[in-house]
Amino acid sequence: MASPRLAIVVYSLTGNNLVLAQHLGGRLGADVLEVRDVRRRTQWSVALDLMFKRQAAIRPLDLDPASYDEILFMAPLWDMHVAMPMAAAMRALKGNIIRYGFVSLCGYDRPGQQAHVEAELTDLLGVRPVHVSQLFVGTLYPPQDRNKVWLISSRRIRAGELGRFSREIEAIAGWFSAPADRQGSTPTA
Ligand SMILES: Cc1cc2nc3c(=O)[nH]c(=O)nc-3n(C[C@H](O)[C@H](O)[C@H](O)COP(=O)(O)O)c2cc1C
Repeated sequence: MASPRLAIVVYSLTGNNLVLAQHLGGRLGADVLEVRDVRRRTQWSVALDLMFKRQAAIRPLDLDPASYDEILFMAPLWDMHVAMPMAAAMRALKGNIIRYGFVSLCGYDRPGQQAHVEAELTDLLGVRPVHVSQLFVGTLYPPQDRNKVWLISSRRIRAGELGRFSREIEAIAGWFSAPADRQGSTPTA
């Protein structure tokens, strides 16, 4: 039986999620597609967009969801939200995605963050995610530094450092090799 076709759709501002997406894409034999901003974005403009609840303008994404059995979305979290450019891509795909997972190489665990993200994904795509995983850059720091938001948010992860997340990466790879049911998730709207 042929392996399920997987696409990884990634948004990354400072490179962390892109490095992880390229690694997983190679390992899982997935196509990797990038969501791109129309305008140049900085961490400061992210903070302003969050403050004023502005949506992101993105370039058209060349993805035909019908060509894949499953989509893995990957993006940073900003103030507990899926990064706005990825949220924009998801809004455009709503109604066309049956089965998907979401991974974020994000900063630090915040109370309620996982549930908040799962609810937001369900709202954006109209269907619950099958898998959600957060990998925390903060775990590379000693406990007393893990609440230093700007220190952690400025940390760039290089491909050679991904071994520090090997446990989480193995778990994600396992999602796609396990004989999981391929029925898809339940539409919510
Ligand atoms: C304005 C801002 C807000 C952030 N808020 C969160 C957050 O709420 N939770 C979290 O885990 N990480 C948060 N982060 C950290 C990013 O998710 C993290 O730096 C991520 O690895 C960046 O991914 P990228 O390099 O792919 O853009 C925030 C970063 C910025 C710049």
